[in-house]
Amino acid sequence: MRFPDGFVWGAATAAYQVEGAVDEDGRGPSIWDTFTRVPGAIAGGDTGDVACDHYHRYPQDVDLLAGLGLGAYRFSIAWPRIQPDGRGPASQKGLDHYRRVVDRLLERGVTPYVTLYHWDLPQALQDAGGWPERDTAHRFAEYAALVHDALGDTVRHWTTINEPKVASHAGYGTGIHAPGVRDLALRDRAVHHLLLGHGLALQALRPGGNTLGITLDVSPVLPYSPDPQDVAAARRVDVDSHRLFLDPLLTGRYPVALDAVRDGDLDLIAAPVDFLGVNYYRRIYARAVPHGALRAEELAPPGLPVTTVGWPVEPDGLREVLVMLRDDYPGLPPLFVTENGAAFPDVVAADGSVDDPLRVDYLHGHLLALREAISEGVDVRGYFVWTLLDNFEWAEGFAARFGIVHVDYADQRRVPKTSARWLGRVARDNAVPPPK
Ligand code: FCB
Repeated sequence: MRFPDGFVWGAATAAYQVEGAVDEDGRGPSIWDTFTRVPGAIAGGDTGDVACDHYHRYPQDVDLLAGLGLGAYRFSIAWPRIQPDGRGPASQKGLDHYRRVVDRLLERGVTPYVTLYHWDLPQALQDAGGWPERDTAHRFAEYAALVHDALGDTVRHWTTINEPKVASHAGYGTGIHAPGVRDLALRDRAVHHLLLGHGLALQALRPGGNTLGITLDVSPVLPYSPDPQDVAAARRVDVDSHRLFLDPLLTGRYPVALDAVRDGDLDLIAAPVDFLGVNYYRRIYARAVPHGALRAEELAPPGLPVTTVGWPVEPDGLREVLVMLRDDYPGLPPLFVTENGAAFPDVVAADGSVDDPLRVDYLHGHLLALREAISEGVDVRGYFVWTLLDNFEWAEGFAARFGIVHVDYADQRRVPKTSARWLGRVARDNAVPPPK
């Protein structure tokens, strides 16, 4: 089961989830530093203060990644390290840190894939209103340009924003993520300004001749039952979670009216990208309920195997989303799977090793589904596992371990799990073993 020549194999992380060192080298506070202090917001009261200490240990972590045979690293830049207050000149210490990370990657033959925003908004910008404020989109483009000016000579692949839906919907709608706001009108404004920030950043970065894109989380949405009410509920969830982002980016139109939109915004948002990143974890099932804005609840049918965070394991859903994108959006840019992976309750054996057959099976199934989508003609250029290291999994804290490398948070020791070696072999062979 070979993959096309030049197919990119990598691992992904995000700054707040792995770096720690939140007070070092002039970093300002982000909304996640604030939110993790809210009692009850995070499982176990965990914070990203130390996390995997990747800020200091990136050299070894890069060596580990390269040693496995993975050729690409997708990581995010912490905006509050570059602009501690969210505006003004770039902090040289912040830029220098990421320059060193990039240099290390290049020395080890690993291609950097930089994400500019993976949810750690400078707290000062939230104090000024956050993503519901139009100015935040302009501030983001300014920050993007500062980073690009410093690293654009060596970094070719740039993602503006990771999963704008989670940033808007979880951050400002349900409030389960930072900044913990629950207000649907503000949520809708955040949707538009995240996308506008992407569009403005594209405009700022485009002259560099680089490869630019955005990453969305996409799932097939199915009705919980054949009942027409559930079918309608699934449609509402699909529009609210996916079409609300895909349509403006790829067709220049929102599927619903949003108040915050001004003349010209959609032209910026729909400017061509060089790739679309797709994060896939699971199928979503929707059931009609009488309450809530969408009158729908998400719940998985009984009997499906699930991960630590309750997500059903359904590999073919990855093929479905890739084929759906190709079929529904003519002129679709090339795709990368920028995240895919699973949390399972890993067991450390007496000899210190971590065998994770469930994760190996998860990756195997999803890579076969990805290979199938490529055979069906979908243009997918690369695959990044979520994630390199066990890390701070947002509201779930450290309890959900998604890494292919086990982290002992007491001493920061890294132990590659069986899945890390398995994926490294796949990457080196550029081929996935046949189904079991
Ligand atoms: C995605 C996020 C990533 C990680 C995975 C499990 O939504 O982009 O940071 O939390 O889920």
